Amino acid sequence: MSFLDANASQSHPINTLVIGASRGIGLGFVEKLLSDSRINKVYATYRTPESASGLLALVDAYPNKLTCILVDIIDEKEIAECVGKIRADTDKLHFAINCAGLLHDENLQPEKSLRQINLDNLTHYFQINSIASVLLAKHLQPLFKHKENSVFASISAKVGSIGDNQLGGWYGYRASKAALNMLMRNVSIEYARTCPKTIVVTLHPGTTDTNLSRPFQKNVAPEKLFTVARTVNQLLTVIEKLKPSDTGHFFSWDGSKLPW
Ligand SMILES: NC(=O)c1ccc[n+]([C@@H]2O[C@H](COP(=O)([O-])OP(=O)(O)OC[C@H]3O[C@@H](n4cnc5c(N)ncnc54)[C@H](OP(=O)(O)O)[C@@H]3O)[C@@H](O)[C@H]2O)c1
Repeated sequence: MSFLDANASQSHPINTLVIGASRGIGLGFVEKLLSDSRINKVYATYRTPESASGLLALVDAYPNKLTCILVDIIDEKEIAECVGKIRADTDKLHFAINCAGLLHDENLQPEKSLRQINLDNLTHYFQINSIASVLLAKHLQPLFKHKENSVFASISAKVGSIGDNQLGGWYGYRASKAALNMLMRNVSIEYARTCPKTIVVTLHPGTTDTNLSRPFQKNVAPEKLFTVARTVNQLLTVIEKLKPSDTGHFFSWDGSKLPW
């Protein structure tokens, strides 16, 4: 049933796209997909060469399989141009995963209380964590209009679950991931009509040892802090088992469904 299943890979080339591939979980997905002989093409996006040296170094090893494309996902024009470059090369995608996300940067820390709420920061969280995925869904839609099994996934976060929120805090991050979940649920309903072979999901990766989680790792038990490679393997296991009826749902790294 999966986009990667044996029958599918024998009958057609499998093309994949990783958005937010410069580092962290996105780079882990690129490495894994490149090493998988069932995959024909890996398109990988990055925002700036400065943080993408690990990704760009892979092009020498996989010149025919890996194509890196520069895109800042808060800019719709750049997303449209990026998709235009992919469409100039192929007319079908079978797997796209948006791994770009923001929790903190040099100018922004997750809010501990209402006193720290700030319009610009909230807007920035939504631009990167919510709106980018729906813009991608809009522009990638033509590449999913085919008859082969496909998956469009976005990395969300368990803290974006409204039902699971007992602690508060992290207003912008939590709300932007909740909005992502709603937007992708909507996309799943529209894709079911326009690209019925494409399963649309959001995924919680578990706490993973990347730059994003590093300042918040001290209370995480070692066995609950995953390496990037482990997270990618776990998420791909979930993705490979997805059924058409799973479209529009929010899954954790262990395959369980998370509450909205
Ligand atoms: N790590 C965890 O424990 C954890 C837990 C739950 C959910 N998540 C989610 O998992 C996803 C991946 O996170 P990660 O841990 O791999 O984080 P990371 O190492 O900080 O990587 C974040 C990625 O997002 C990209 N990005 C940020 N803003 C962008 C923009 N405007 N345009 C294009 N790309 C942009 C970054 O590109 P640059 O290099 O250019 O900045 C980088 O590739 C995120 O959605 C995150 O919320 C992570």
